[in-house]
Amino acid sequence: MKFLELCQKRTSIRSFQSQPVKREDILYILEAARHAPSAVNFQPWHFIVIQEEENRLALHDCYHREWFRTAPLYIIVCADFEQSWKRKSDEKDFGEIDATIAVEHICLAATDLGLGSCWVCNFDNKKLIELLELPKHISPIAILPIGYINLEVYPELPNKLRKPLNELVHWEKFKQVSE
Ligand SMILES: Cc1cc2nc3c(=O)[nH]c(=O)nc-3n(C[C@H](O)[C@H](O)[C@H](O)COP(=O)(O)O)c2cc1C
Repeated sequence: MKFLELCQKRTSIRSFQSQPVKREDILYILEAARHAPSAVNFQPWHFIVIQEEENRLALHDCYHREWFRTAPLYIIVCADFEQSWKRKSDEKDFGEIDATIAVEHICLAATDLGLGSCWVCNFDNKKLIELLELPKHISPIAILPIGYINLEVYPELPNKLRKPLNELVHWEKFKQVSE
């Protein structure tokens, strides 16, 4: 698949078949995440893989949506602020940005394998931290439910609503981006 086609095909999928994701496919996805760029190449991330029934049920308590329960696999991407780069000039911490890039690598890799995924950030952060027993310097950035797409709900991929390029791109302009 061409890269642009992969980007076009990646869309939020919110209903999955119960069939488990193959281990080799999980490893392919994780390998794609590992290759994400990060500030100063510090790689300040952790990928928590959840497949066991008991753990999946516990995770459902952190995000109450029926569709979320249908996923056979979840990858939780966490930023590690003890490992992340801080810009000297203003102390800005890039951990969250780095982890975010890895998140999208995971979604694109899943699409490449014919799997569906969805970014989930609207979870109960406190509950998730308690469940995963995360120390203070590690923060969950996104939960990614992943699985084979439920074709009854998605007989074809949904249309992606996007602003046209001419509203977004400002060729050779330094001022008046709001024009
Ligand atoms: C940072 C971020 C957080 C998101 N959180 C959620 C979420 O909690 N629940 C959800 O159903 N979708 C969530 N989404 C998915 C967006 O709703 C979706 O990406 C957007 O509507 C565009 O649709 P598309 O992914 O099909 O292109 C999130 C996406 C991003 C990038």
